[in-house]
Amino acid sequence: MIKKIDNFLNEEELRVAHNYWLVREPGLEACGQCNDSVAVYGDPLSETFLKTKKSLVEKAFGEELLPTYSFSRMYYKGGELKRHSDRPSCEVSVTLNIFADNTNWPIWFHKLDMSKPTDPNTTNYVEDPNAKPISLITKPGSAAAYEGCAYSHWREPYSGEKCMQVFLHYVRAKGRYTSFAMDGRKYFGQHKQQAIKNVWAQ
Ligand SMILES: [Fe+2]
Repeated sequence: MIKKIDNFLNEEELRVAHNYWLVREPGLEACGQCNDSVAVYGDPLSETFLKTKKSLVEKAFGEELLPTYSFSRMYYKGGELKRHSDRPSCEVSVTLNIFADNTNWPIWFHKLDMSKPTDPNTTNYVEDPNAKPISLITKPGSAAAYEGCAYSHWREPYSGEKCMQVFLHYVRAKGRYTSFAMDGRKYFGQHKQQAIKNVWAQ
């Protein structure tokens, strides 16, 4: 399932978030997943949205969700999100556009064939050859919600100067990944470190 949620943030929230991330920018570290980008796990403002905007995502998906974690990334020119699918903590994911000077930057999705994992010990699946890639464009303040484990997703290299995206991740409250709630953490804002390893070890 992929859903576009317009006006995920209201004007005031968006204004504050925009300024907040410009203040945070010099302290952000290089992202381990994406070239030409900086990122942070569990930022306090993003964790606040993770908590307070859960009902919006539940309404879009029509079911109860449990928060796992947030991740926030600032892309620069040439930054790209390589094609990938997500770990169980990202069963339901949101990419929220905070700001972008090129507002025409699609995120692409390709449905996975969930009938069999590529390896019985993993949650990796191959793309469904009968499905076609789908793209979505969101303007600042709006979001795309999607099943991060059920679709591979990617972005082509960014052609603008700077784009800020906040990712909010959830699991289904009645799904198979409830043990990943809070990403194994004890409280919002806690860094994952050992926490997620403890969940995988269960
Ligand atoms: Fe992802």
